Amino acid sequence: MDFHVGGFIGGTDLAQGSRDQWTSSFGFFAAAVGSAVGLGNMWRFSYLTAEKGGAAFVFLYLAFTLAIGIPIMLAELTLGRGSGKSPIGALAHYGGARWKPLGALFVVTGFVILSYYSVIAGWTIRYALEALLVGMPADPGSHFGLISEGGGAFIFHIVFMTLTMAIVAGGVSRGIERVSVIAMPILFFLVCGIAIYASTLENSASGYAYYLNADFRNAFSMDVLVSAAGQAFFSLSLGMGAIMTFASYLGREGNLPRQAVSIASADFGVAFLAGLMVFPIVFALGLQGIMGEGTLGTLFVALPRAFLEMGAAGRVVGSFFFVALVIGALTSALSLFEVVVSAAVDGLGWSRRKAVLLMGVLVMLLGGAAAFSLAILDVMDQVANNLLLLVGGLALSIFAGWVMDDPIGEASSGGGDPKGLPVWRFLLRWVAPPTLVFVLWHSVPSTFANFLALFRG
Ligand code: PHE
Repeated sequence: MDFHVGGFIGGTDLAQGSRDQWTSSFGFFAAAVGSAVGLGNMWRFSYLTAEKGGAAFVFLYLAFTLAIGIPIMLAELTLGRGSGKSPIGALAHYGGARWKPLGALFVVTGFVILSYYSVIAGWTIRYALEALLVGMPADPGSHFGLISEGGGAFIFHIVFMTLTMAIVAGGVSRGIERVSVIAMPILFFLVCGIAIYASTLENSASGYAYYLNADFRNAFSMDVLVSAAGQAFFSLSLGMGAIMTFASYLGREGNLPRQAVSIASADFGVAFLAGLMVFPIVFALGLQGIMGEGTLGTLFVALPRAFLEMGAAGRVVGSFFFVALVIGALTSALSLFEVVVSAAVDGLGWSRRKAVLLMGVLVMLLGGAAAFSLAILDVMDQVANNLLLLVGGLALSIFAGWVMDDPIGEASSGGGDPKGLPVWRFLLRWVAPPTLVFVLWHSVPSTFANFLALFRG
């Protein structure tokens, strides 16, 4: 029943021409992968892997991706496409008005993540420009200290947000899709090229050994588990309606289960490749000590130092690396911002231009806090990942598993074999909720403690 309602409403919207659509299924795929692949795969994945003890963390992160990430990805795709609405409307469409607050939580999460994400993205723009124009900094440690906090960080955050706003203002097909279909293949080639280059370095073997040999001694500490869960959601762009929003611009045709698996595979693939570039380079140059410190900035200190020591080749590789980071960050920011913008367009009846402008300025201001304090940035990242996205994911799995009428029919309409989908529903009902409650149970106290510690100085 819901399926027909969804189809009908989607059709009506389309007939009125009020809602943009992807022009091709590759366009949607590129945009969704663009959303998923970003700083999470390169910056966050490598620094967490270093901090949390190498391959054991990677293994847990993969397990979360498969057992919980892909099911929730399919749930978001299904809700978005079926309703043809941005998250607040999509949830109300299938669950009634009392689910609207969850959609509002998604918008808040989008604000929080984009605010600090854009600051880090600003660092990457700066590094990319410097690598191209003047080379690597002579003292990467103090350089990072200089650029990561304060006026400079704020300005590059504004630059990055302006770019994001300009593209999102262009709309879904003419802005986001057009950029993603060009940017994502470039990103992929850059990452592959650097990983291949890294394999030719002398002593790269110790990097692979660290990255790929699991030491399960600390894999089962709660802290590692929480980080792996948060990372799976963050990296796949799940738990805040980003994928749902993108899916709301899909036509009725298309195999959603296959899309979910392809997007998640591409995302994991790039994260894995990022490890294959970062660890061999860092270990080949004996810089694992810096990586081991496992702070937000490690990647931005260890890699430039490695590039510096590699001479001319390092400058080329370094430029490519930071350009890849900028591309990844930008295409992800488009989806974060689209959640916020589409909520204002659909919910408040604003024009896209007005929504982009007002919401963009708000993100610029909120991001100012992160730009001026690394400690605030760190806490925003923890609150978003270890709390907001997990709560969002928990609610989504309950919603699609228990509340929605016919998720299997919706997910398989338009192509795709429904045979495997009862397994999907089982995972949404019985695996995701208890696991996420367990993870939250452990992450909430420490996240709150870190949050409060901010105010105590
Ligand atoms: N997935 C993005 C990354 O890995 C970040 C992101 C999170 C984007 C949530 C959208 C929603 O960088």
